Amino acid sequence: MSDFQQAREKEIAYHEQFYDQTALFEQGTWLARPVAAVMDHLELLKVQNMRVLDLGCGVGRNSIPMAQRIQDMNGTVVCVDLLESAITKLRQYAEQYGVASHIETHVADAQYFRITPGMYHYIVACSCLEHLTSEEAFVAKLEEMQEGTAPLGIHCIMINTNVKEIDVETGKEQEGLIELNLPTERAFSILHRLYADWEILCERQVHQEIPEVHDGRDIMFCGEWITFTARKGAR
Ligand SMILES: C[S@@+](CC[C@H](N)C(=O)[O-])C[C@H]1O[C@@H](n2cnc3c(N)ncnc32)[C@H](O)[C@@H]1O
Repeated sequence: MSDFQQAREKEIAYHEQFYDQTALFEQGTWLARPVAAVMDHLELLKVQNMRVLDLGCGVGRNSIPMAQRIQDMNGTVVCVDLLESAITKLRQYAEQYGVASHIETHVADAQYFRITPGMYHYIVACSCLEHLTSEEAFVAKLEEMQEGTAPLGIHCIMINTNVKEIDVETGKEQEGLIELNLPTERAFSILHRLYADWEILCERQVHQEIPEVHDGRDIMFCGEWITFTARKGAR
């Protein structure tokens, strides 16, 4: 099995199990609340009939609060995730939280989900673009996202970069098993090049260390969590 296939299988297995065992907004988990940067940048947009695209939406940690926020503006959040089980749960949560009519769902690989030109005012990709097949696919997706954005629209991108796994007992370090493991500098350099004509609103990186158990061994999953947000020009 290729490294990509192994990484994809691990990604699917982890999320299937996690979403099964964890309720949306459950305290003490990463589903407890929406990501602050996602909600803060949404506040910069006040558009009637607002269209938001949430790539790699999961069970709606960001999509549901965004739909609640824009429902009075007749807004819609278009939600895309690879996992059918995540989308099924998201639809149930959308009913539960009263926003089903403001959510549109697609089971699809973000890499192949076609973004209609000029369609969206806000595009969120929170822990999604590191699951594409290659750097070329990453660049192509960002270009498609840009094409799909209306004038003055905003992108909110979060990516895990420079992912490593350290064996806690031996200290041995190896590259993390993730589909696209971009070095942090490389990710920022691509973003700066592609977004040269956009207004950069926020860029930051935070070091992360997450303890995991792999095959009975304690592993520290390390990397940078980068946030990059930008606004398109008026034309
Ligand atoms: C860490 S979760 C984040 C979910 C959501 N964005 C959030 O912030 O709660 C990553 C999500 O991306 C989805 N995913 C992974 N690879 C994907 C791909 N190629 N296309 C679409 N979704 C993908 C996973 O199924 C998972 O739900």
